[in-house]
Amino acid sequence: MSSELTGIYRNLTSYGDPGFSRFIRRAFLASAGYDQEDYDRPIIGIADTTSDYTTCHRQMPEVIDAVKRGVLEAGGLPFVFSTISLGEILISPTSMLYRNLMAMETEEMIRAYPMDGVILAGGCDKTVPAQLMAGISANRPMLSVVIGPMMTGDVRGQRVGACTDCRRFWAGYRAGEIDPETLQAAEQSLCSTGGTCMVMGSASTMACLTEALGLMLPGGAACPSGSGDRLRHSVASGRAIVSMARSEILPRDVLSRASFMNALRVLQSISGSTNAVVHLMAIARRAGIEITLADLDAAGRDIPLLVNCKPAGANYLEDFHKAGGMPVLLKALAEKLDLNARVATGETLVDLIAGFKPPGDWQQTIASSAKPYGGTGSLVALKGSLAPDGAVLKRAAASAHLLKHTGPAMVFESPEDAAHRIDDEALGLTAEHVLILRNAGPVGAGMPEAGSLPIPRYLARQGVKDMVRVSDARMSGTAYGTVVLHCAPEAAAGGPLALVRNGDLIALDAEQRSIDLLVDAAELQERREQWRPPEAPERGYARLYAQHVMQADTGADFDFL
Ligand code: FES
Repeated sequence: MSSELTGIYRNLTSYGDPGFSRFIRRAFLASAGYDQEDYDRPIIGIADTTSDYTTCHRQMPEVIDAVKRGVLEAGGLPFVFSTISLGEILISPTSMLYRNLMAMETEEMIRAYPMDGVILAGGCDKTVPAQLMAGISANRPMLSVVIGPMMTGDVRGQRVGACTDCRRFWAGYRAGEIDPETLQAAEQSLCSTGGTCMVMGSASTMACLTEALGLMLPGGAACPSGSGDRLRHSVASGRAIVSMARSEILPRDVLSRASFMNALRVLQSISGSTNAVVHLMAIARRAGIEITLADLDAAGRDIPLLVNCKPAGANYLEDFHKAGGMPVLLKALAEKLDLNARVATGETLVDLIAGFKPPGDWQQTIASSAKPYGGTGSLVALKGSLAPDGAVLKRAAASAHLLKHTGPAMVFESPEDAAHRIDDEALGLTAEHVLILRNAGPVGAGMPEAGSLPIPRYLARQGVKDMVRVSDARMSGTAYGTVVLHCAPEAAAGGPLALVRNGDLIALDAEQRSIDLLVDAAELQERREQWRPPEAPERGYARLYAQHVMQADTGADFDFL
């Protein structure tokens, strides 16, 4: 590295006199205790997402300390910088609205401050995709470090965890099967430690895919928050990024289409979150690589379910970690992956996992390809007259008897409308109905996780556990049910979802990969002529978002990034 361009002299503040810029920079750094000894060291920025609002990250300070120690041990100089932190549960209306904002902010800070490499410390759902989008666009040597999953809790003798069990308890309560006292006991135990949701929800899925992409040191996706394994991984990441910064290994030089196809195959093998489909497309786009819904579908055709974690299985992320985590899964999937794909350290996936020995009981949670836990095609891409540009269904979390279903539509105009009316018995809903939620796509509402509409209370009390639900929204990676998501184009962009009326027949056929609105073309044309687009929000970020966000089938990134 050239000392004129790196370390504290990288990205000089513009005063029209570079000598003065260097002098004043040294003067201010002196006030913080830095001296000549520090000036030639590579600076490692550490993006810190600690926030009281992001309860999942409450142990982030010790992760940051561990990373800093690794950086110092390797001769680098750690500089922590705070960024937006997206706490999934406390944010309104949805963290997805702010993913692109966080990606922009983080990218610009990486570009603006002097840093020769960056550690992106995240975890909760949208933080990791935002950080990867940022790091790849800024194209500095980078590694991701996550906070890690929570440990499981206990409710009256039942092992529980966030948030598949949150949904199960709530659905049971709505159906009258769970009493208020048990619900309250669950409230105290579902999130028993710091860390991210400990099922294969969006946070865990993105952590696994980050490791599959090679943007995280091996074994880092699943070490529990607060564990020694988590801290040792953080220290190792701090050491590694210093040598990556010295060698100037850039993410855009190592990522390839093979990296993303590997990630899609891993996604299928873990039956991961549908949210990851949108995020992977956005991340790939930042690397100048196109992946499509057809790629997602193709990746699932011969990849069975290999990981026994909720919501598709029975176990939790701590079990996945005990079974060896991602290195064991990558070995189990080796024949289906391109292990020559390069990773952030400049090596290949095969280098990373070569020496890894699985623990003795790994098959409790990770299956071999020869004896999988479930069938192929965990996540499927649908197309049809209701979603000409595509939609996504998590088949592994759906009910077998609904995978081919035709039923009459009941339309809800927004998540608020659904919340207001879904339990109204006057709607006359039956288990055959298809619940349609619209105006919940990227433009319409920032794409909240509203797609898994609750089963109407009166049907739940009759024992109805699942119905076909179709929307332009997302759903939580911890959710389950026969839920068709991400319909593109969305209703607010004039997609066919906007034209559905109560009673129209909707046909889902997961085997044929189709989702259709069975209304004739002339009638649809008449409806289209009456349709008017919603008005964009008047000001601020919401306006920027509505005017520039792209559709879900391309990653819902901004068109100018
Ligand atoms: Fe943070 Fe689930 S709410 S990961």
